[in-house]
Amino acid sequence: MNLRDEKITCIGVVGSGAMGIGIAQVAAVAGCRVFVYDNNAAAMERARTNLGSALNKLQEKGKLSDAGAILNNVSFVDSVAALKECGLVIEAVVENPDVKKNVFREVEKVVSDACVLATNTSSLSVTSIAAVCAKPERFLGIHFFNPAPLMALVEVVPAIQTQPELVEEICNLMKDWGKTPVVAKDTPGFIVNRLARPFYGEALRILEEGIADIATIDWAMTEIGGFRMGPFTLMDFIGHDVNYVVTETVFQAFYYDSRYRPSIIQKRLLEAQWLGRKSGKGFYNYAAGTAQPEPIKNVTLGQQIVDRIVAMLINEAVDALYLGIASAADLETAMTKGVNYPKGLLQWCDEWGADYCLRRLDCEYNLYHDDRYRASFLLRKHAFENKKFL
Ligand SMILES: NC(=O)c1ccc[n+]([C@@H]2O[C@H](COP(=O)([O-])OP(=O)(O)OC[C@H]3O[C@@H](n4cnc5c(N)ncnc54)[C@H](O)[C@@H]3O)[C@@H](O)[C@H]2O)c1
Repeated sequence: MNLRDEKITCIGVVGSGAMGIGIAQVAAVAGCRVFVYDNNAAAMERARTNLGSALNKLQEKGKLSDAGAILNNVSFVDSVAALKECGLVIEAVVENPDVKKNVFREVEKVVSDACVLATNTSSLSVTSIAAVCAKPERFLGIHFFNPAPLMALVEVVPAIQTQPELVEEICNLMKDWGKTPVVAKDTPGFIVNRLARPFYGEALRILEEGIADIATIDWAMTEIGGFRMGPFTLMDFIGHDVNYVVTETVFQAFYYDSRYRPSIIQKRLLEAQWLGRKSGKGFYNYAAGTAQPEPIKNVTLGQQIVDRIVAMLINEAVDALYLGIASAADLETAMTKGVNYPKGLLQWCDEWGADYCLRRLDCEYNLYHDDRYRASFLLRKHAFENKKFL
């Protein structure tokens, strides 16, 4: 059910960095009038240039008929006051709670009571930002993935104050924009950043324990596991500044649950500013002409690595289902569309059998006596009852 008779067609975007300008592009290409505001004039100028060239490239590829007309529909404005006509304002400023809260205090002074307010935060509590608004019932999270024009997935995250009907209205709007929305509870990491933690964390444990080196783990996860990138290649690609901070934030937000414990190896890379591809060095060395480490292509070892990491990923997905973070269908969509997993984790569990997955985790738990390997209650239940998830 939509709250409004008319569709939202005028969009405000606050913050014109990588995410803000990507979101502006998505809305503009979908036919919306867009107003972009950034408090850094130079950043906004860069964003305008980048948007122009992105739209021109799409036109050259035949994916747009009139890049100029779309660009004309995007106004770069020098104050929040210019957002007054917007029906939806999406904030994509730096990941700092105080800065974000101040943005919404200012926006709420100028927009109408009907305007929907949204944050693109990756890691902050949507509820805590909503709490500073005079009308928190019109506030929610709309979490796009990077790069927003290319990634289909959008996590729609109602705060506990959000008017329930708004969730469906925004999901419909995202579909109109060509996106695939999933609904996630306002909990740390929402769906993707929560479920994906073991992809990195368990790979780092295997490395720390000396079971295999980075090249072998990456080989196993791509060649045997079917993932597009191995964990170490992917961490280097995301950047250790971003990936480590997400892990640490999720770990703290879950009251230091050992399932999400960060790795000292990764912290040292961050401290050395070996951030990955963008700094030329991370787990791998990207300097031209550098020989890359060769994997040990031992299929038995490779299968053990895949099983250990995938069992942990499945356990996260099952536990998220158990705790009502999202529906089974949305959990599957999130991981296949948000991080391009070869299949959904619940489907993976069904193919393995809950019993096999449980035995895999219990084996780790008995060996390590570490709480991170505790199986979700729902996985244990499904194993005992021999049930499938899908
Ligand atoms: N980069 C990603 O992969 C990614 C993915 C999903 C969500 N996010 C989230 O999106 C948000 C933005 O991330 P980003 O990567 O685009 O950051 P960014 O650093 O590229 O851009 C942030 C922009 O906000 C502007 N800004 C800062 N304070 C402002 C204010 N008070 N008013 C107006 N503009 C202000 C800055 O000038 C900058 O241009 C963050 O909350 C981040 O967690 C990022």
